[in-house]
Amino acid sequence: MLWGGDDAEARLRELLRARRAQYAEIPHHLDTTAHTVAQVAEEVLALYAAQPRTWRVSAPSGSYPVHLARGGIGQLGALLRAREVGDNLAVVSDANVWPHWGEPLLAGLRGSGYAPEVIVLPAGEEQKHLDNVRLLYDRLAVAGVDRGAAVLALGGGVITDMAGFAAATFMRGVPLVPVPTTLLGMIDAAIGGKVAVDHPRGKNLIGAFVQPLLVMLDPDTLATLPDQERRAGLAEIIKAGVIADPTLFTALEAGAPSADLRWEIERAIAVKIAVVEEDPYEQGRRAVLNLGHTFAHAIEVLSSYRLHHGLAVSIGMAAAARLAELRGVGTAALSERIISTLTRHGLPTTYEEHPPAAVYQAMRADKKRRGGTPRLVLPRAIGEVVVVSDVTETEIIAALERIRP
Ligand SMILES: NC(=O)c1ccc[n+]([C@@H]2O[C@H](COP(=O)([O-])OP(=O)(O)OC[C@H]3O[C@@H](n4cnc5c(N)ncnc54)[C@H](O)[C@@H]3O)[C@@H](O)[C@H]2O)c1
Repeated sequence: MLWGGDDAEARLRELLRARRAQYAEIPHHLDTTAHTVAQVAEEVLALYAAQPRTWRVSAPSGSYPVHLARGGIGQLGALLRAREVGDNLAVVSDANVWPHWGEPLLAGLRGSGYAPEVIVLPAGEEQKHLDNVRLLYDRLAVAGVDRGAAVLALGGGVITDMAGFAAATFMRGVPLVPVPTTLLGMIDAAIGGKVAVDHPRGKNLIGAFVQPLLVMLDPDTLATLPDQERRAGLAEIIKAGVIADPTLFTALEAGAPSADLRWEIERAIAVKIAVVEEDPYEQGRRAVLNLGHTFAHAIEVLSSYRLHHGLAVSIGMAAAARLAELRGVGTAALSERIISTLTRHGLPTTYEEHPPAAVYQAMRADKKRRGGTPRLVLPRAIGEVVVVSDVTETEIIAALERIRP
């Protein structure tokens, strides 16, 4: 009985000594001295938020883990050794990301005995082409990278896509480890097994489906992300809410996201995983992820890709909401909710640089290039979208008129 003796403090010290080894096993320790209950609760919550998390994504060829862990890029060496990945690793990154995050990644790899070939490419969508893939093949061949090793892609969606395509095709497939460093990369490009490069006649025209060995998301890397990239990622998070997660959408409708975006990232990842598991080869359900994208592609082309993709998607979602409203699929109240939430997060929802007829023509040209039935994703409610393929020119132009400022 603790308080029964004369000397409670001596008894406590004795207990502490007896239990020291067990207490040392507990990963987190809080000093509660002079803290209120509320302060302690807050600290416990902060520790909880810092806990690593893993999802397992099922794919036709097996399943792979997606790890979310602060400091995770430093743990990759140990993870790869545990999976018996061979020595001849390559790391592909870009010139913006490498100076910030190259060393922490390398330190962890070196700690596990890896001395990878490092390939740093110039940054930007305009680099996502076959010439750079050829350059990657050359470097992988010289470095002796083989199927027993892996290619790590440290960067945004451009690096994930380009290194991913090189890994998928070099020696008929070397294991790929995406380590996305943009919000978009984390919640979208790195999950789902699509990799591609651009062709002068269209974006992502040359590509493959390849399931990664594992994916490592380290939210610490977002600390250096430029503000525009962060906002573009938020547009995709809001998109995930509109498609399938009312709780996520309502939280973003009500206020600012969490400081580290951890909760929002987790929710958006869950949406992406659920969709790609249902439709791994993009034959049906996966089309819902294109909410806003048909309008966005046209606007991007018209702006000669000077308008950021994520911002174009935001405008595209506003147009899709208005179109849904015009067709009686959605309501004016639904459009207002979507548009005001995008606006609240600093995202554009109007478009006037080109007249609606020009946007419509660009959408038609895009559809023609991509082939197949033209389809548009429309919100029916928060958390529910429908895919339609019978939208008329008049309807599209009317929706575009509605988003003119
Ligand atoms: N395969 C898929 O399923 C899929 C899905 C969505 C998008 N994508 C592709 O992803 C690409 C867009 O990805 P993105 O938006 O990540 O663009 P991106 O890779 O070009 O990155 C955006 C910019 O941020 C910089 N950057 C990245 N991480 C940084 C960091 N942590 N700190 C500082 N700077 C950083 C990059 O150098 C770049 O300048 C497109 O090519 C798109 O086609 C692919």
